Amino acid sequence: MAEKFIIEPCEELRGEIEIGGSKNAVLPVLAATILTGQENVLQNVPSLSDVEAMSGLLETLGAKTQWDKKSGNLTVSTAAINSQEAAYELVVKLRASFLVTGPLLARFGKAKVPLPGGCAIGSRPVDLHLKGFAALGAEVDNSHGCVTVEARRLKGAKIYLDFPSVGATENLMMAAALAEGQTILENCAVEPEIVDLANFLNAAGGKIRGAGTDTIKIDGVRDMKATQHSIIPDRIEAGTFMVAAALTRGDVLLTNVTADHVKPVTAKLKEVNILVEELETGIRVRHDPSHEIISADLKTMPYPGFPTDMQAQFMALMCTAGGTSIITETVFENRFMQVGELKRMGAEIKIESRSAIVEGVKKLTGTQVAASDLRAGAALVLAALRADGLTEITGIHHIDRGYYRLDTSLNKLGARIKRV
Ligand code: EPZ
Repeated sequence: MAEKFIIEPCEELRGEIEIGGSKNAVLPVLAATILTGQENVLQNVPSLSDVEAMSGLLETLGAKTQWDKKSGNLTVSTAAINSQEAAYELVVKLRASFLVTGPLLARFGKAKVPLPGGCAIGSRPVDLHLKGFAALGAEVDNSHGCVTVEARRLKGAKIYLDFPSVGATENLMMAAALAEGQTILENCAVEPEIVDLANFLNAAGGKIRGAGTDTIKIDGVRDMKATQHSIIPDRIEAGTFMVAAALTRGDVLLTNVTADHVKPVTAKLKEVNILVEELETGIRVRHDPSHEIISADLKTMPYPGFPTDMQAQFMALMCTAGGTSIITETVFENRFMQVGELKRMGAEIKIESRSAIVEGVKKLTGTQVAASDLRAGAALVLAALRADGLTEITGIHHIDRGYYRLDTSLNKLGARIKRV
């Protein structure tokens, strides 16, 4: 029987929360372990179902993994990899599985990975990944729902990405790491997760410069070696707790968070009258008793703009802010799945093409709602914290993909969430 959350309205959230390792950093780094053919020790790995899925995929390829969830250490040995084919049922469960394509191609000269389908938030094409593999000299076949890429040895190339795609930047950086000669990726993504992946690759003997800027230079090496690496904190989990503190008019200290990585969220929360202080010990987010929360417009952009992964959570905050907020989603074509559910809770929202117009209301009311994807689900949890009456949220497996026990963490801060 699928689990669901029963959420009672709570007082202000108060206390301290330690942020876990980044889901969107550890997934590409796990794929990159394929390149070393050695033992790689990853630290600060979050206990998420997506991480289970990725390490499970590596095991089907022949890798050995050992995960001590208490310490957060995950050791992956990829010496014994003997298959370059990812199974359909694994890729359909985790789109990020497609990130094994670049490393398999680079190390073994071939990879056969099912084309990831779309998901709730959009069609999620991988055309930029495939164009990049072809530019590096690979034969690319995309038919029967499967991508097959082959090359005796990849050759460095200059690649201009039509869009600063996070996944394409990661896949191509990994493919280029063992290619012959230099690869230059231009107009690439600059997210902190790209920098973390580059740091892992360099620690394993790679030669990558410019990660974090829109031009990355990769000098191919013959082979890479064993290494250990600590995963950066999850800036989206952090942003989610920051919005939870704001929404409940509370006072929360987030520890083990990189302030730089959440700057766009900090700036937006300050704009709507929330007090955010960057302290030695972490980031303190609290409601300013002398100012009510006001509305602000929002436009999601690739980093360092406001993250698309925080759009739904911010919308939940705007539902009970004073005034009108225009929220524009520029990164994915269908990322307003939370709107219908928030309206069931009494929110006033109108969608005009890529924008949602949110009229703040006094209070939302609890009812049954369904999570459609990871971040929309998180937004519904936040909205429920202050809604009048009980809220029941189904589809919470989506939430467990990207948040380690979100219910337990929020309850530690004073929320009243039951997982049944
Ligand atoms: C990563 O997805 C994240 N996932 C997403 O987080 C995040 O929302 C996204 O980056 C943007 O920041 C992981 O890191 C595992 P993209 P990714 O390639 O790599 C288009 C979450 O909630 N595009 O930057 O798939 C695409 O359709 C998840 O944690 C192409 O057109 O994102 C989209 O509109 C959701 N062709 C836009 O680019 C391509 O070949 C951004 O996609 C690739 C992408």
